[in-house]
Amino acid sequence: MTITLAFDVYGTLLNTHGVVSTLERHIGDKAVDFSRTWRDKQLEYSFRRGLMQNYENFAVCTRDALDFANAFFKVSLSAGVKQELLEAYRKLPAFDDVAIGLDQANKAGFRMFAFSNGSAEAVEALLDNAGIRNYFQGVVSVDDVKSFKPNPGVYSHFLRKTESVGSDTWLISSNSFDVIGAISFGMRSIWVKRSQDAIFDPWGIEPSLTVINLLNLAEQIDQI
Ligand code: 2OP
Repeated sequence: MTITLAFDVYGTLLNTHGVVSTLERHIGDKAVDFSRTWRDKQLEYSFRRGLMQNYENFAVCTRDALDFANAFFKVSLSAGVKQELLEAYRKLPAFDDVAIGLDQANKAGFRMFAFSNGSAEAVEALLDNAGIRNYFQGVVSVDDVKSFKPNPGVYSHFLRKTESVGSDTWLISSNSFDVIGAISFGMRSIWVKRSQDAIFDPWGIEPSLTVINLLNLAEQIDQI
């Protein structure tokens, strides 16, 4: 059976800290810490909305997390600057290895999908803007099932929507909660350890494979 690859988007294909240069113009040396808090809170809000069964689109989590970071760092961003930052978030850059890695994976014959917490519309626009939409057969969004990763229901939705089976489907993500969620559900999963300092959550569930970027995925999957 052909292997299906489910690529996580934010943090795996696209650099969520691509907003730092915009932030630096407005808040100087607080930009890096602000960006981290913004991202952490965005994910926390998605987890909480999933648990509370109080779903709102991922863009709402992003906007609310920006408001939190604004209050936390006491930087009093104007409505216009917040708008500019949210606009930058809709045009996040791809990591340097991504286009080459996706091209290699495509040529190796995998079925490839983007699979994200973001709405299909937002993800389509992000991938288009980064010039990598053509590598994917489709985009699958959690928005269809009104919950977020790592709810097992969203991984199940991915399999249904792409007509795949868990044992032949690999989630590829830099987010360890996503990798653990996929494996716990019954998929295989590759952790993309994009930074030397990244720590995989010590839950006793290990990734099927760890890589440092998306290059030569086919060769590495073959060796397992
Ligand atoms: C995504 O689903 C988890 O943010 C990550 O794209």
